Amino acid sequence: METNLLSTHPHDSHDPKEATPSSKFAKYLQEDDLTQECQALISTLPKEQDWVMSHLYQYQGFWHPIRELQGVLSCQHHFQARDTDIILATNPKCGSTWLKALAYVVVNRKIIPLDDNHSLLSKNPHELVPCLELRVYVDHQVPDLTELPSPRLFSTHLPVESLPLSIKETSCKVVCLARDPKDTFISLWHFANKLRPPNDGKLQLEEAFDKFCKGVSFLGPFWDHVLSSWKYSLDNPNKVFFLKYEDLKEQPKLYLKKLAEFWECPFSSEEENNGVVDEILSLCSFDNLSNLEVNKIGKLSTGEHNEAFFRKGEVGDWANYFTQEMTEKLDEICLNKFQLCGLKI
Ligand code: A3P
Repeated sequence: METNLLSTHPHDSHDPKEATPSSKFAKYLQEDDLTQECQALISTLPKEQDWVMSHLYQYQGFWHPIRELQGVLSCQHHFQARDTDIILATNPKCGSTWLKALAYVVVNRKIIPLDDNHSLLSKNPHELVPCLELRVYVDHQVPDLTELPSPRLFSTHLPVESLPLSIKETSCKVVCLARDPKDTFISLWHFANKLRPPNDGKLQLEEAFDKFCKGVSFLGPFWDHVLSSWKYSLDNPNKVFFLKYEDLKEQPKLYLKKLAEFWECPFSSEEENNGVVDEILSLCSFDNLSNLEVNKIGKLSTGEHNEAFFRKGEVGDWANYFTQEMTEKLDEICLNKFQLCGLKI
């Protein structure tokens, strides 16, 4: 199936109503329309109940909803990275939306001025920086990406183990984004409940926590995902930038400048003196993005309401939900996993 992705081009305009899908639920969660390859594969994979609907399947060590898995296979077969590509490889609920906004604005700032017509004001960041397995290759599409101008910006939630080979073999740049496990869990739990069919009721915190601790969550085990990207960054320091949500929150200016250098579009002294860095941070801030009309009423082509990607945007909200027992349990898992590798998260 061929599709044209040029709608992600920076200059395109957007009407939030256009993104409204016919389906009520996030498209990647549904089980119809699978290729024979995918059907044959899932019949061999371990399977667990998903947090939202249907099932998660364990593929290459990580848990995937079915339709997303179809997209994974498709992008593994077909995605051809370019040396100039920028890939945002984010752990789900670790701030992908924010990083996408920042990357899109920074990388395109020479062709898209920071004015009232900026695409970020009328499009959700997930539409501007499409996810390989959830959007670009969803439904076994094989899109023509050759006409997209460089640098092309894509995102993925895939762990390093499952990245399309061409991402590893070219000199494209990869930013891996991670977050505190407890905040990630709380964010994921809220998100899953927003996506659940109303008749199924809410997924209880305890049940979700139990699944998370067993590693059964979207693209979990969380710690394995984080560790593989951390190691990938240590092994490939010029190619991979490992970023933590908390660091970006604490020192946004510092990290945005580092990212711009990494993406080979550093801020000039003139830009810095003119307040461009602050202007970009303000444009991409939680308050600004979450209050835009497109992010209040729009939907992604894959079915999620844009507003679901903006909840609190804070560090430490987990403390409002965790019992002492939960804290100890997750701390112990993460300490065991991360400590030996020198990763503090
Ligand atoms: P919370 O649920 O803790 O509020 P992702 O984008 O990977 O799905 O992650 C979603 C998390 O990032 C949510 O966290 C969301 O509120 C937060 N977020 C979204 N946009 C943000 C922004 N511009 N700045 C900071 N945090 C943001």
